Amino acid sequence: MASVSVTSVRSPIVAGNWKMFLDRRGAITLAQGIVSQVTDNNNVQLVLCPPSVYLDAVGNVIGITQAKPFGERVALGAQNMNAAANGAFTGEVAASMLRDVGCRYVIVGHSERRTLMGETDQVVAAKTLAAFAAGLVPIVCVGELLADRESGKTEEVVSAQVIGSLAGVSQANLETIVIAYEPVWAIGTGKVATPEQAQEVHRFIRNLLGKLSSNETAAKVRIQYGGSVKPDNAGSLAAQPDIDGALVGGASLKADDFLLIVKAFQS
Ligand code: PGA
Repeated sequence: MASVSVTSVRSPIVAGNWKMFLDRRGAITLAQGIVSQVTDNNNVQLVLCPPSVYLDAVGNVIGITQAKPFGERVALGAQNMNAAANGAFTGEVAASMLRDVGCRYVIVGHSERRTLMGETDQVVAAKTLAAFAAGLVPIVCVGELLADRESGKTEEVVSAQVIGSLAGVSQANLETIVIAYEPVWAIGTGKVATPEQAQEVHRFIRNLLGKLSSNETAAKVRIQYGGSVKPDNAGSLAAQPDIDGALVGGASLKADDFLLIVKAFQS
């Protein structure tokens, strides 16, 4: 099977997943540090994903207002959502609420949620569909465990996650989705996948998307790499043809480091 052409114009997307770190003041300061240094010639889409209680505060820094409900160059993203439209789900947040506070993106199926909260591909697919229904762009995370990689099952595991997590997504929505390939063994460990290892899986995912939809659609999907992305390894990851950005954890908590990663993806 011929591989999918990578000649399309995919603008890079770099998202900072702040996880459960920072306090209100720290979140505002970090957002200010980033927003104040983003230049006009930057073609990279930046997404800041603070803890949900600080979405509003960070949205204010980005400049989200009633008249301008979404950040443009710097957008707001959430780390999680519930698949239900509303209801008696104590402690949960609906996609429409995220949209209401100015989110344009939402991370779904992060490995920490898959592992710690038992989220299955079915749950992730329900969230993905609900995100689209509310007008959000989901950043769908997939990635193998170290044991999977060591037993040669990376493609099998990643393919099941991609197929399962995108079940029911329309062709039109698929074009706009963001997929984050995050090998679980590389998250927060300092062990980054080599650019070649990452590219191999990104290419595999893009070819799989081609089989699930069409090569034209697959060529438009932005696939981020995540897992110990730092300023010193971002350049070699960005140079790979199927790596269209990064989902950054630890290094996104320092404005200067995050911006150096963004710069690596700038054309
Ligand atoms: P990391 O986290 O950059 O700290 O490895 C990435 C992620 O969990 O999205």
